[in-house]
This record gives sequence, C-alpha cells and structure tokens, in this order.
Amino acid sequence: MLDNTKLIHGYPVVDPHTGAASIPKYQTSTFNQQAIFESQEYSYTRFGNPTVAALEEGIAALEGAKHGFAFSSGMAAISTVLMLLESGNHLVVPKEVYGGTCQFVKDILPNYQITSSFVDYSDLEEVEKAITKDTRVLYIETPSNPLLKVADIKSLVQLAKKYDVLTVMDNTFMTPLYQKPLALGVDIVIESATKFLNGHSDVVAGLVALNDDQLEKSLRLHQKAFGAILGVEDAWLVLRGMKTMGIRMEKSCQNAQIIAKFLAGHPKIQNVYYPGLTSHPSYEVHREQATSGGAVLSFDLGNEENVATMTEHLQLPIIAVSLGGVESIVSYPRTMSHACLSEEDRLEQGVTPGLLRLSCGIEDSEDLLKDIEQALSFI
Ligand SMILES: Cc1ncc(COP(=O)(O)O)c(C=O)c1O
Repeated sequence: MLDNTKLIHGYPVVDPHTGAASIPKYQTSTFNQQAIFESQEYSYTRFGNPTVAALEEGIAALEGAKHGFAFSSGMAAISTVLMLLESGNHLVVPKEVYGGTCQFVKDILPNYQITSSFVDYSDLEEVEKAITKDTRVLYIETPSNPLLKVADIKSLVQLAKKYDVLTVMDNTFMTPLYQKPLALGVDIVIESATKFLNGHSDVVAGLVALNDDQLEKSLRLHQKAFGAILGVEDAWLVLRGMKTMGIRMEKSCQNAQIIAKFLAGHPKIQNVYYPGLTSHPSYEVHREQATSGGAVLSFDLGNEENVATMTEHLQLPIIAVSLGGVESIVSYPRTMSHACLSEEDRLEQGVTPGLLRLSCGIEDSEDLLKDIEQALSFI
C-alpha cells in the first residue's frame, strides 16, 4: 500500500465494533471489567484507549514501524524518549536542534546526571569526536529549524552503529510522507503532530514510532508512568487531520518550491534557505534521503526594520509560532523559536535579525506570491 492509500486504509480508520466510518471518540477514563480475574484489552485510558490506539497504529503504519505511541505534545514525546537514558549516560545533539529540545537537554537532563555535547552535524568528524564511552544516544533532526540545514541520516546511523549508540530522530519538518528515518536505520522516530500530521493548527500532539520490542516495552512503561498521554478528543482530531495529509502536504510543498524560487531571484532578499532548491548546499544529500523539499523555507531580509515592514504588510499568512497548518504561517525565529538563546548564539547559528521563516499553507500560490510581492514593495 502506498502512503496516500495508507492514510485512508492503512490502520483502523473504520470502527471495528459498529462499522462507523470514523473511529469514535471513546471519551472515557475507564472501562467496565466484566470478568474481574481476567485481563482485558482496555482497562484505563492512561494505559490505552481505542481512539488513541488507532492513531498509534496510524503512525506505525506511516513510519513503517512495528510500534507507535501518542503523547500530549511533541515535547512530551521527546522528553519521554530521552528519559530512557540513565544516570551517567551522555548524548550527542545537533547545535541547531529545536529550542524546546535544547532546553530539555541543557536544563533538565543534568538533574539526572545525563550529560550532552552539542555539535555541528554537517561535520561528521566532529560528531564522531563527541562520542564518548558513556554516549547512548545520537539525536538527529533534519532539516534543521529555521535554517533548513541538512544532516546525512545514513552516515550518522553508520557512525552510531559503529559505537553501539541509539539513534533518535525528530522528523517533524519532513513528516513520514517524505522522509522515512526507520528505513534509513534510525532506531526511534519522533514527530510533533501539532504540525503537518494534524495540519489544522488546532491540536498539540506528539507521536513516536520504533521497531525494537525491548524499546517498545520500556517506552510503554515510561509513557504510562510519566502519564503525558494524548487526550481522546485530540487523538481523534489528529486522526481526522491525517486523512487529508497527503494532498495537504503536496499543495504546501508545491507552494514552498514556487515561493522559494521566487524569493531566490528577488533583489531585496539576501538569502533563501530551502532544501528543494538546487542551490542549497546539501541539495543532493537531502534528495537522497527525502522525496520533497518540504513546506518550510526561511529567508533573510537583511535587517530588523525590513522584517517589521514586511510582516506589517503581509495580509495572508498569520504571524505566529508553529508551522504545518493549512494556513501559511510566518515566524520570526529571533523572538519566537530562538528567543531563549543569546544574541551571540543566535548569530553563530545564522539566526540573524533579518531572518523570517515561512511555513506554506494550501492557499493558491498566485495569491501567496502576490501578497509577498506587495509586502516586499514597501521595503
Ligand atoms: C522540529 C520540532 N520538534 C518538536 C517540536 C515540539 O513540538 P510541540 O510543540 O508539539 O511540543 C517543534 C515545535 O515547534 C518543532 O518545530
């Protein structure tokens, strides 16, 4: 089954008990147990719920995995996975990792004697040098946020295997439709379903998929014990959003490709960052491991005043934190996703005062281009 068919038929989409064309919201915290001395599939919603289980099967199907997990946010998924580490362990993390992950690794994990090294993943030698005898996880995120830097997944997996280190990958930007980390050898894949999987900017959710049975047991225990489970209503909304994910993503990525090309040729734009452009420094690596440039791009207007002028005049995109909605979303990384870094650290990463990130929605590209063009004319 190919992915678009899978989105409609590849996991429990129809209710097995009633035939309802949409899995109902099993809005219950607990389940009546008729035979008190026998275990039954569902007993308490924190341990499992049929609506949430359908979504967990859905992410497993899309990622080509044996096991799926749903969490209350992308960060709940990331933090619960990283809590598989034990005191004394070390992990290697990309310098440009998502801000929330950076904060969790830097500010929370040391409380449990778990240490980390932040490394530039474009330099594999640096990554290898950072691996110590205590390293248990090599954390991957590609393309990065907001500069869309690309890391070579296969080479990183090879490196991790050489040192018997687990690979954990955040695949939020590409989604399981366009990048299949498990097929490339990654051990655990994480998605913030808040973004493209749900796709309607109305839910916060996180998903995880993996193949190893031992890891499944351990993560299931952590999921149950930390309790950061996804609520039934939100699981249902993500299930609903996923059904149209294929056509939504196709349109959003088409828009991104068109807009990136337009901006790359515009005299008022200093730099465009988009892995779907042949001018992207890692275009070939990205093309090897992903089947689309994705729906997110960033561009540099040179300074803060130009950012203020452009965002003031843009009429279609909302100006907001987040990405992956049906509506186009413009973010200012300097004061939004990367606000917790110092200006020095931001500049080192390339998060300049002139940088804007655009997550393309499914509007008509002609209208988006017209809007961008008129906003740029005020600069
Ligand atoms: C790449 C990436 N990973 C993880 C997250 C965290 O997801 P959530 O906001 O659902 O906790 C985000 C949120 O923006 C993100 O962009």
